[in-house]
Amino acid sequence: MQICVIPGDGIGPEVMAVATAALRVLAPDLTLTEAEAGWGVFQRTGVALPAETLATAREATAILFGAVASPSHPVPGYRSPIVELRRTLDLYANIRPTTGPGVDLVVVRENTEDLYSGRERLEDDGNTAIAERVITRTASARIVRAACEMARTRQAAGHPGKVMIVHKANVLRVSDGLFRTVALEVAADFPELTFEERLVDVAAMQLAAQPQRFDVIVTTNLFGDILSDVACIHGGGLGVAASSNLGHGRALFEPVHGAAPDIAGRGIANPTAALNCVVMLLEWIGRPHAAERLRRAMEVVAAAGIRTPDAGGDATTREVADAILEQLTSHA
Ligand code: NAI
Ligand code: MG
Repeated sequence: MQICVIPGDGIGPEVMAVATAALRVLAPDLTLTEAEAGWGVFQRTGVALPAETLATAREATAILFGAVASPSHPVPGYRSPIVELRRTLDLYANIRPTTGPGVDLVVVRENTEDLYSGRERLEDDGNTAIAERVITRTASARIVRAACEMARTRQAAGHPGKVMIVHKANVLRVSDGLFRTVALEVAADFPELTFEERLVDVAAMQLAAQPQRFDVIVTTNLFGDILSDVACIHGGGLGVAASSNLGHGRALFEPVHGAAPDIAGRGIANPTAALNCVVMLLEWIGRPHAAERLRRAMEVVAAAGIRTPDAGGDATTREVADAILEQLTSHA
């Protein structure tokens, strides 16, 4: 089985080195193939997502993605490789779980359209910028269905079976109006679940203040991006939060965090989010025992106080990694 590993930029390679080391111990039979993407490769070659990377990603059973650094201004020819990968491989469901004291929720984010469709342009001699927000019935229906199926699976494991549909249809009456209409139609197919709807601003406030009230949240791309960063506060922050991107028998696993240029190269990035991606990957390829081993090793190391600064400790990435690998090899 082939796994495509895309370390990317900034702390991406730092945390992916830890993730692949753990994966090699836990599943030595897997073939890990490294591929390039991001700002670094763009600066060298003029391409952010090389064709070889896309080919390797397509051939692989699953993809592990670190993070890429995308500039916050237009650069001719540059498009975010992660947005491109999600769209090209049609990885339409971005699953972002958060667990913490009293909190166990999942943000299910539409991953292929909305304001991330890349339809932006300047008019009026560069004085007016226009972005097109694309919402389709097909993408809305499949993401809400994915969220409902997840809520049903979680319900069987004791969760409340509650789906919160988040939108801003009071202002975006046409685009979110369509999302909301389709969501309510799909909801009718899941009578065993309970549904609520919330405007995104109030949802953000409640997610910050009362996260224990949430079970499964389903929303459009941009809102899901923002809400998942809010949610991850309750699970230990960006250094911990992992996500999967799912579609058509394929999966890409990536930390919720980005390239973290403020700490890149300092050896203090928290590898937990990347390791949680490995946990998700192992579960997805049907190896729950290996996933559990890694989860337990991370718990033991964190409980021993071996944590990076963002998690309240003073350990380096290397020290956390060594302690976890030591746990894995001594408790095989
Ligand atoms: P970021 O997630 O990279 O960093 C936000 C803050 O969290 C920073 O203070 C950073 O030091 C901290 N942080 C993030 N991950 C951490 C970890 N593993 N351990 C310890 N601290 C951690 O978001 P930011 O700063 O907004 O974006 C930086 C760059 O990353 C941008 O170029 C952006 O485009 C890119 N980005 C890429 C993503 C991706 O590849 N999927 C996602 C988000 C941002
Ligand atoms: Mg984000």
